[in-house]
Amino acid sequence: MLIRLLGAYSRPYRKPIAAITALQLVQISATLYLPTLNADVINNGVLPGDTGHVLRIGGVMLALTLVQMVCAGTAVYFSARTAMALGRDLRADVFAHVQTFSVREVGRFGAASLITRTTNDVQQIQTLVVMVFTLMVAAPIMGVGSVLLALRQDVSMSLLLLIVLPVLVTAMTLIVGRMGPLSASLQQRVDRINKVMREQLTGLRVVRAFVRDEHEQSRFAGANDDTLAVSLRLGHIQALMMPTVTVIMEFSSIAVLWFGGHRVDDGTLQPGTLIAFLQYLTQILQAVMLAMLAFILSPRARVCAERIQEVLDTASSVVPPLVAAPPRSSGGLELRDVEFRYPGAQKPVLHGVSLTALPGRTTAIVGSTGSGKTTLLQLVPRLFDADAGQVLLGGTDVRTVDRTALAATVGLVTQRPYLFSGTVASNLRYGNPDASDEELWRALDIAQARDFVTALPEGLQASIAQGGSNVSGGQRQRLAVARVLVARPSVYLFDDSFSALDAATEARLRDALASAAADATLVVVAQRVSSVRDADCILVLDEGHVVGDGTHTELMAGSETYREIVLSQLTEEEAAA
Ligand SMILES: Nc1ncnc2c1ncn2[C@@H]1O[C@H](COP(=O)(O)OP(=O)(O)OP(=O)(O)O)[C@@H](O)[C@H]1O
Ligand SMILES: [Mg+2]
Repeated sequence: MLIRLLGAYSRPYRKPIAAITALQLVQISATLYLPTLNADVINNGVLPGDTGHVLRIGGVMLALTLVQMVCAGTAVYFSARTAMALGRDLRADVFAHVQTFSVREVGRFGAASLITRTTNDVQQIQTLVVMVFTLMVAAPIMGVGSVLLALRQDVSMSLLLLIVLPVLVTAMTLIVGRMGPLSASLQQRVDRINKVMREQLTGLRVVRAFVRDEHEQSRFAGANDDTLAVSLRLGHIQALMMPTVTVIMEFSSIAVLWFGGHRVDDGTLQPGTLIAFLQYLTQILQAVMLAMLAFILSPRARVCAERIQEVLDTASSVVPPLVAAPPRSSGGLELRDVEFRYPGAQKPVLHGVSLTALPGRTTAIVGSTGSGKTTLLQLVPRLFDADAGQVLLGGTDVRTVDRTALAATVGLVTQRPYLFSGTVASNLRYGNPDASDEELWRALDIAQARDFVTALPEGLQASIAQGGSNVSGGQRQRLAVARVLVARPSVYLFDDSFSALDAATEARLRDALASAAADATLVVVAQRVSSVRDADCILVLDEGHVVGDGTHTELMAGSETYREIVLSQLTEEEAAA
């Protein structure tokens, strides 16, 4: 998974990667050659007292070191740059893909996890990529090269490697093997911290209102301590690596000096060769350690790659049409025998719902809490797709309508309107970026929001906080209504959008709306009977079934459910009036 992901994303960077590899090769060759030269200086320069030879080879060594430094530095520079660019590409793709998700997929992953995956997980992969560039080429070449050159220096001393290498590799494998599962769980803990934090920030007002700060703090502390515990366990294991390698290294150096020293005494080994051999031994151990460093990072990066790939492989359940139907600007809205079930739910929320909303008419939907009104409206702009039946706009199934055309045709004001951080104007222009200021004011007029926007010190340029948290609930509702009006769709869906307005303001809003959008199809969900009684057609929903439709008078006579709703709010005389 990790390799597949890295393979795909490193393709555009083939050139810099080739350059990094070449630079690493030069750098490693220099590193490998230096001890051999060192032996030469000692054996043929220092010992015989040949100063010329010392200076000459010393000069070569200096030049090689310089080459090595420049190459290593340049390689690190390109590695970091390429890794960052690769990370950016990956983040962009994950973000773009998440944008195609419907509410269903976002719900499946959870917003917190999607954020962690786009940020922290990509970061882990970036770190690994830098490592890979620096080590994957360097470590094997350095390891194998050092072994070969050590053999060249002295074959019998190299037998020591037969003991040292297996011990080292076994120790490292044991350590790294225990780190894999811990890394996976660490990434899940990061998800959890993110989730708890997000929930607390979103629900801050409720936390304060119920004075649950301490409870929330301990909940966060729980998630936080949990992460610490896993990180610590991971750290403990990781901390074992360095001492293990050092101990093995020191013991093998002692062995080399012990055997080598005796042989220097015998005259069968030159001192320079002994020193070179020691240096190669150190390089071998370094190579093993570097390789292990990559192995430390790889379990976590592997988990991250799987988590990212999972997002990228998830297709949205709301599929855009293969052949998009041309947009229909008129013709109203029709639902035919629609059935809908939330993901994972046992029972459908909507059963065989049919509805016809005509242009120029107001269609109202009433029903008790949880009867499925919001769910029904969400099917029209395809926040979800119906499981059975059809949703038609102007006679065309919404599933075949082009996404942009659909968005231009349907204007949904959600039950809990959301405003974006920015200004009043930027929010109003969300669905129609080219709207003029006059158009904005006209929409505000209809939405009965002119007065309060005028009262803001900066008017249209007044700033709006994320989610619209710096305006009142009723103001937010009216801005959301105005936002939809600016976009001028042909089908308006208002989900309980006038609930925060007083009766008089609401009546004025509905009058203004009726004349401003006279040709449009209006669908109004409301709790208040006064909001719906004048509608051309009223649909009564009860637990996802349509239990009545008709005008107020017809339903008062014919629908028991409707009568109950009405009489719970009005007296007999008011209802008849
Ligand atoms: N995201 C969801 N996942 C699962 N079930 C859901 C989800 N949203 C709503 N439901 C369920 O679907 C049913 C209908 O919900 P819906 O929001 O459509 O009701 P409503 O008529 O709009 O209610 P209200 O008048 O309170 O706004 C409810 O029983 C609710 O529990
Ligand atoms: Mg609702």
